[in-house]
Amino acid sequence: MRVWLFFNRDLAPDVPEAPEVLRFIETAKALDIELHVLKPSEFDLVVDSGGGWSASYQGRELRKPDLIIPRCGSETSYFTLAVLRHFERQGVAIANSPAAIESVADKLHTLQVVAGAGLPAPKTILGKFPVDVGLVERELGFPVVVKKLKGTRGNGVVLCQDRAQFDDLANLLDGAASGADFLFQQYIRASHGRDVRVLVVNGEVVAAMERQSSDGGFKSNISLGGHGKTITPPKEMAELALKVTQALNLDISGVDILFDKHGYRICEANSAPGFQGLERACGIDVPEVIFRAMARKFAIPLRHSQRWERTIERAARSALDAIGPAQPPKITPPTLLRPAPIRRRPLQSS
Ligand SMILES: Nc1ncnc2c1ncn2[C@@H]1O[C@H](COP(=O)(O)OP(=O)(O)O)[C@@H](O)[C@H]1O
Ligand SMILES: [Mg+2]
Repeated sequence: MRVWLFFNRDLAPDVPEAPEVLRFIETAKALDIELHVLKPSEFDLVVDSGGGWSASYQGRELRKPDLIIPRCGSETSYFTLAVLRHFERQGVAIANSPAAIESVADKLHTLQVVAGAGLPAPKTILGKFPVDVGLVERELGFPVVVKKLKGTRGNGVVLCQDRAQFDDLANLLDGAASGADFLFQQYIRASHGRDVRVLVVNGEVVAAMERQSSDGGFKSNISLGGHGKTITPPKEMAELALKVTQALNLDISGVDILFDKHGYRICEANSAPGFQGLERACGIDVPEVIFRAMARKFAIPLRHSQRWERTIERAARSALDAIGPAQPPKITPPTLLRPAPIRRRPLQSS
């Protein structure tokens, strides 16, 4: 299997998502998968109505892969989406699809799809400036959660305890005139400092981890120091994660589920979920699960060499079939040669 993994940043120690990419590289080696880590920003995108394969990367043409795994998550730019669509149009399997990535990069769009599918979500208002504090108080009350539309790893999520704090923040946001980049969301008190991350791959719950913040704060992200422990999700929770993943058309998803007084609420879904904490807590090899599941889903032989061996075997078999069954060689007895008569020369008289 030849796989391209899309990652727009360097594999440097200070890049938070780099360890996951390194894990993909490590597992690909172990499984004999040909993996190329590529930066989508380094493709030259030439759209042409003439068919044929085209992939120009850093000035050279690349061979067609069997699968693309984008790992750009909520930082997926328009350019990356355009590159993904270019290869999707050319028939490459992509997990997740650009359309699905786009809808979950935007937390409001995620919740619009979730609510549209009749699944429970916290009540959420898209920020409008100047902020209508009265509307937020009426609809959501306090405390209220304020989120960046495209945040990740717990950055850009804050809790405003009361109206005075929210007034201050609203003033700040109005001054920044940042447009509709913020959400105001109902605070789910029963979930303060804890939630569940469910990993769904190819329509199956692969692992679930309950996360607990370690500093008493309301955010439970592992990247902020939260602790994770593996759990077997209750049926209702597992079904909810599967339904959300299906509604969002994701092949791979990390669904964050909040605990409510009765039942659960969907916090968000991630198209390129971090999994360092999950691997530690649940003892699974996430890239292996993903490679194997995607190979099954898209009917791609996992090991490139296996495919090669099968092709060779098939070619050899058809060549042998064409020759037909082997015949025993005919043995013709050697013709006996009669020795030439010995001519004696007459003795010459001296
Ligand atoms: N409405 C909410 N009520 C209670 N806790 C929340 C709410 N929204 C988010 N949280 C907490 O904050 C964390 C981060 O929020 P999330 O929307 O998942 O942002 P990120 O994309 O940065 O992970 C969640 O994992 C959860 O612990
Ligand atoms: Mg989250």
